[in-house]
Amino acid sequence: MAEYVVELKHVTKRFPGVVAMRDMHIQIKPGEIHGLIGENGAGKSTLIKVLTGVHVPEEGEIFIDGQKVSFSNPVQAREAGIACVYQELNIVPMLPVVDNVFMGRRVVKSNGLLDYPRMHKEAHEALSVLGHPEVDTHTECGKLGMGLQQMVEIAKAVSLNAKLLIMDEPTSSLGEQEVKQLMTTVRKLKSQGIAILFVSHKLEELFELCDRVTVMRDGEHILTEDMTNMTNEKLIQAMVGRSLENQFPKEYGTRGECMLEVKHLKEIGVLKDVSFKAYGGEILAFAGLVGAGRTETMRALFGADKLDGGEVYVHGKKVNNKNPGAAIKNGIAFLTEDRKGQGLVLSLGVKTNLILANMKRFKKGLLLDNGDIEKVSQERIKELRIKTPSSDEVVAQLSGGNQQKVVIGKWINCDADIYIFDEPTRGIDVGAKVEVYHVMNDLVKQGKCVIMVSSELPEVLGMADRVVVMREGEVMAEIDRNSPHFNQEDIMKAAWGGKIA
Ligand SMILES: Nc1ncnc2c1ncn2[C@@H]1O[C@H](COP(=O)(O)OP(=O)(O)OP(=O)(O)O)[C@@H](O)[C@H]1O
Ligand SMILES: [Mg+2]
Repeated sequence: MAEYVVELKHVTKRFPGVVAMRDMHIQIKPGEIHGLIGENGAGKSTLIKVLTGVHVPEEGEIFIDGQKVSFSNPVQAREAGIACVYQELNIVPMLPVVDNVFMGRRVVKSNGLLDYPRMHKEAHEALSVLGHPEVDTHTECGKLGMGLQQMVEIAKAVSLNAKLLIMDEPTSSLGEQEVKQLMTTVRKLKSQGIAILFVSHKLEELFELCDRVTVMRDGEHILTEDMTNMTNEKLIQAMVGRSLENQFPKEYGTRGECMLEVKHLKEIGVLKDVSFKAYGGEILAFAGLVGAGRTETMRALFGADKLDGGEVYVHGKKVNNKNPGAAIKNGIAFLTEDRKGQGLVLSLGVKTNLILANMKRFKKGLLLDNGDIEKVSQERIKELRIKTPSSDEVVAQLSGGNQQKVVIGKWINCDADIYIFDEPTRGIDVGAKVEVYHVMNDLVKQGKCVIMVSSELPEVLGMADRVVVMREGEVMAEIDRNSPHFNQEDIMKAAWGGKIA
């Protein structure tokens, strides 16, 4: 058996105006969990796409089990035993779970027809391995939440019997419990001799899971080390090339007027009865498990989903947000968790996306003020450290984390009173997270109301003034920063339905 299941040597991949990967190397041993980490735009996804035959590198070599190979398309990589769960989900929402798990493959009966009973059975088995036997494989994927959609994507890879399974930020859409289940699954796969390449921005996760870690920066290999030789500080230093003093730079505003009041919001089957108040000058966090109804609450009050009851007040005045346009007019901005589906127009440039939410601000007579647009775009690019060759780059070509930063920039440009951020730092590197927190601090200091839906408890505890904990479409608890219950344990307890004294 070769020492390495997969090895890359001297690989360079260029795009117009960008060297995404330069003289990169990595060696992955059979049955190891190998972490891959680096800032947004460092080249992690590019490395993966070279390994999976999506991109053909200009230079360099790939070896599988010691044999030199070259992939000119993803099918060849898959046949060589490399499976991948991509950062951006590749689910077809209109198709049932079973067809998504078997995407691009066919299981046929002797008469040549698709063997659906067997496909359903295998899809169910793959999902059960992941801890989700309850998912009905007949369900349309789009009807599942983000967490479960991702499970379907992982099930697709698991059912391929790969020798290397690559996971590009697989836990970013998952709640705590799902992450635990995923880790168990990953370890199970490892014990079967499967190698895992695990990309994540969450350092704790890498420490918990990985045997070795490779750090990339600006497309280059910085280090590969046994995890036991690493510390948080060493990893951050290698990633960003400097040390970070404070991961949660919380600043305090002054609580102002009640800007948003939600009374008895109801959506059949989703929200039972949700009421809360949000004030100017504070960050109100929404914690809970995936599926608790936090995103649904925000979508409902923003007019993205139809309500079956309840009232929304902005500045004490009852509003009827029939659609997102109406909500924006009423001063609400909503940064969605699903950037690909709702946040961005991928085929347009960075600059255009940045102004999408507030075109009228840039109107000059009948035309748009291009000078002003360029100026504001450059400000956002600088402030959020968006890695892009220019403000005209098509958003589809930015790295995942940089796309997320564009969504944030877009909503900052729109002059709202109430900013809803749904999982704002998902997929964002540790350095850039701090920039996002600074943006929130600034909004709060201007007296704006910031609502942050977050599954990251450290972030909730680090940044929130108050936290609402939801479970199964209901508010379980509301905890102030000054309360003795403002801690991880009590928030989790409420999220699981327990009473906190
Ligand atoms: N198809 C493409 N066309 C042009 N440039 C690209 C393309 N894909 C990636 N890039 C550029 O290559 C660089 C590396 O991107 P990559 O997606 O590999 O980063 P990443 O490390 O995965 O970042 P993230 O943590 O944000 O996902 C970025 O500057 C990106 O803009
Ligand atoms: Mg990426």
